[in-house]
Amino acid sequence: MKTIAFFNNKGGVGTTSLVYHLSWMFADLGVPVLAADLDPQASLTTMFLDHDRLESLWPDDDEHPATIYGAIRPILRGAGDIAAPPVEWITKDLGLLPGDLGLSLFEAALSRPPNVAFAPLLEEMAKGWAKLVLIDLGPNLGLLNRAALFASDHVCLPLGPDLYSRQALKTLGAALTHWRGSDGLAFAPCGYVVMGNYPLLNQLASAYRTHILNESSPEPSPNVAGDPNCLAQLKHYRSLMPLAMEAHKPMFELKPADGAIGAHFEAVRQCRADFLRLATAIAASVGLPMPSSAL
Ligand SMILES: Nc1ncnc2c1ncn2[C@@H]1O[C@H](COP(=O)(O)OP(=O)(O)O)[C@@H](O)[C@H]1O
Ligand SMILES: [Mg+2]
Repeated sequence: MKTIAFFNNKGGVGTTSLVYHLSWMFADLGVPVLAADLDPQASLTTMFLDHDRLESLWPDDDEHPATIYGAIRPILRGAGDIAAPPVEWITKDLGLLPGDLGLSLFEAALSRPPNVAFAPLLEEMAKGWAKLVLIDLGPNLGLLNRAALFASDHVCLPLGPDLYSRQALKTLGAALTHWRGSDGLAFAPCGYVVMGNYPLLNQLASAYRTHILNESSPEPSPNVAGDPNCLAQLKHYRSLMPLAMEAHKPMFELKPADGAIGAHFEAVRQCRADFLRLATAIAASVGLPMPSSAL
């Protein structure tokens, strides 16, 4: 089993959307996936589930036994270890660890060692079925994310199409280097995904090498297009995304009945091809065997 965290300390760069779509794509390709929502904002969970289901997972009382918050409550109470909640099945090959705003309360508990809570939880939930765990993380360099990366084999960085993303690589790189060096976390960077296009795009390739891989960057700077660390350059799929959110489906499975008519039809087809390529690139980067039917 491989565990990949998707992480950037800059928000709004498409992290959650990426985890959502890749979870569906890998599951479609016959790689069973546990999607773990470890962002206290829980947006991944709201993408997967409808309002009624969310209401039953997040009642007004303080228990929430079927979410990540329920799982960590024994630790918060000082009354036991983390307890895995049931898998929330989306399809037979796609399960969700539901997120919860209450997870933010865990940050303070993490300041006390030991703080390696997530690995056994994910292992127990994935046991006997999942080949891949994809983790969605919120945009900060706090202890919660450090603990999640402790449970990860790889980290994938979604990058936005702006100057800020290039600068964020510096702070992100410093934190990741520190966590891997002094703190002994074992995750390996497996590449980055760029959303959209912008004039300084190619500087991302050298910034990733310098700050994330701590390698010297060749001169002149490599192009993102030919950079082996660039897993994909994704498009902004515009109106497909709101249709997908409404239907609780990935964009590449939208049908005319979901509103994907006219020009949307071709966009859906291209979107599927883009995510198929990206899933294949990620699998190759992390050494995940793909079923022969998916190749
Ligand atoms: N490839 C895409 N095409 C169209 N809209 C996108 C795409 N990726 C993300 N978005 C939209 O951008 C916004 C931020 O995306 P989100 O995945 O929540 O980012 P993050 O998790 O990094 O904060 C959301 O409104 C989402 O619907
Ligand atoms: Mg997010």
